[in-house]
Amino acid sequence: MAHNPCHGAMLLLFSNLVFSTAAAAGDAGVGYSAGRPTTHLHFYFHENFSGGPDGTAVQVSAARSNGSFFGIVNVVDDMLREGADPASRLLGRAQGLTVGASLSDGALLTVLDFVFTGGPYNGSSLALLGRALLGTVMERPIVGGTGAFRMARGYTLSKMVASPEPNSLLVLEYDAYVWH
Ligand SMILES: *[C@@H]1O[C@H](CO)[C@@H](O)[C@H](O)[C@H]1NC(C)=O
Ligand SMILES: *[C@@H]1O[C@H](CO)[C@@H](O)[C@H](O)[C@H]1NC(C)=O
Ligand SMILES: *[C@@H]1O[C@H](CO)[C@@H](O)[C@H](O)[C@H]1NC(C)=O
Repeated sequence: MAHNPCHGAMLLLFSNLVFSTAAAAGDAGVGYSAGRPTTHLHFYFHENFSGGPDGTAVQVSAARSNGSFFGIVNVVDDMLREGADPASRLLGRAQGLTVGASLSDGALLTVLDFVFTGGPYNGSSLALLGRALLGTVMERPIVGGTGAFRMARGYTLSKMVASPEPNSLLVLEYDAYVWH
């Protein structure tokens, strides 16, 4: 079954994981806020919504009605990469659920674990919970983490960027700001 790209895009929390640590955008090194380190991560989220053998999303329930996302549930195991290019380095996965949860627009509730498998945060994870509406700059809370990100709090900002394969691949650019 073809996965709706709009739906898929909502799932894409991660794009471009170029891990940089900075107090604020552009600063070098790890910053501190109230004595806790703040880390800035930049990466790209890739979701293959083709429904084919390389697909990373599966729809498990249908929308209530034609033309609406309300009621759609997808399970995803999306990719977090260093760049928008599908050949760029894999930094981790975004595993979880996206749920069409709005009667009035296409907003999704997303419940995602960002599981890092490469780069400086290999073995650590971040837990995201929040509302995503494709076509906007999406802000979502980071509600926890493991490993280097134990007790994490923070937020992500993400937006859709041009996809090299718009009919099968959703690409989101992510910035994550993490206190841990
Ligand atoms: C997405 O999956 C389809 C089918 O599995 C595959 O043909 C296509 O190459 C994949 N796209 C990317 C960017 O991996
Ligand atoms: C979706 O709704 C439109 C307009 O009401 C209708 O023309 C179309 O046949 C519907 N498609 C499906 C798959 O139900
Ligand atoms: C990530 O960590 C695991 C477990 O320590 C290790 O086996 C793996 O090679 C690491 N991956 C990378 C890309 O460093």
